[in-house]
Amino acid sequence: MRFSTRQIHAGSEPDPATGAVLPPIHQSTTFAQPSVDGYLSKGYSYSRSGNPTVRALEKRLAGLEGGADCTCYSTGMAAVSAVLHAFLNAGEHALVSQVAYGGTYRVCTQIFARFGARFTFVDTSNPDAVRAAITPDTRLLLTETPANPTLVLSDIAALSEIARSNGLVHVVDNTFLSPYCQLPLALGADISLHSTTKYIDGHNATVGGALIAASAELDEQLRFVQNATGSIMSPMVAWLTLQGVKTLSVRMDRQSATAMAIARYLGGHPAVGEVCYPGLESFAQHDLAKRQASGFGAMLWCELKGGLEAGKNLMDRVRLWTLAENLGAVESLITHPATMTHADVEPEERRRVGLRDGMVRLSVGLEDPEDLIEALDAAL
Ligand SMILES: Cc1ncc(COP(=O)(O)O)c(C=O)c1O
Repeated sequence: MRFSTRQIHAGSEPDPATGAVLPPIHQSTTFAQPSVDGYLSKGYSYSRSGNPTVRALEKRLAGLEGGADCTCYSTGMAAVSAVLHAFLNAGEHALVSQVAYGGTYRVCTQIFARFGARFTFVDTSNPDAVRAAITPDTRLLLTETPANPTLVLSDIAALSEIARSNGLVHVVDNTFLSPYCQLPLALGADISLHSTTKYIDGHNATVGGALIAASAELDEQLRFVQNATGSIMSPMVAWLTLQGVKTLSVRMDRQSATAMAIARYLGGHPAVGEVCYPGLESFAQHDLAKRQASGFGAMLWCELKGGLEAGKNLMDRVRLWTLAENLGAVESLITHPATMTHADVEPEERRRVGLRDGMVRLSVGLEDPEDLIEALDAAL
């Protein structure tokens, strides 16, 4: 079945007991066993190890990404941590996109490094740089594309080939484009990672994470970590996310079209110095964006000619656009990465990787495009 059908139906059917069309919220810690010998015969024992509502979301997301299976977590960061727990031991080494969500950088440098794992933050937009950074101890490649917030792209197929020939697990953070626009597993990646907090929920209602694995073996390793560390999604969050994801394709189409209109508007405004959106012909990796994704997404950034002060002014004054962290939801948000989402990346590292202090990040929502543009126009 096609995407919009799968986003509604994959992994769930009307409840056999009652006919309820939406899956019930199985708010139960534990599950009665028919007998000692029949332990687990109905598939569930205790909600840390598995819960039917969470399982319904896992099956839905596996169906959308074309994976063997999926595990869901309390947040996107818990999903990042699960990958590091599963595939990296003390003394081993991982390559991570040098531009990635600030929390990913923080968990590597301030948590996992304390337990003896080593990290190199590499320019994954350059496959030669990735190849050159591999050492005999490298086990994992974590690629974020498009990268938060610069939107720099990495070639998933080329990197997956490098990972395969060097025995690395390749994890792609697909949060910015969602499975509707980009399918990392089809391009050769081993695991697709999501902060479901973003487009998959889409309503600023939950925080959650997901890992969709290409093989049952990889999924098993992740499921062991999920249960052993207690890093799980709650049934209520899974249920809300199951409702949100049903409109993913419709939201992405409309939000992306509005993002394109806003990028063009900003590009023509005399106060704006630079606009970055993968859908613009001026975007340096526009060809790669067209090749590996079926849409350009709804994230963009701009830098004003007046620099940081002018950018702050815009973010403080603009109406309708909420100044807040998060992205991907129906409400349009405006964010200052240097002081908000990426504040824990040291200033020298931000400068090294091109994360400028003047960047204003825009997450385009589902409001009328004219209203969003009028609000920006008034503030500019
Ligand atoms: C690309 C990306 N990956 C992972 C995360 C972490 O997700 P969460 O906030 O759900 O923990 C974020 C959060 O902004 C993100 O933007």
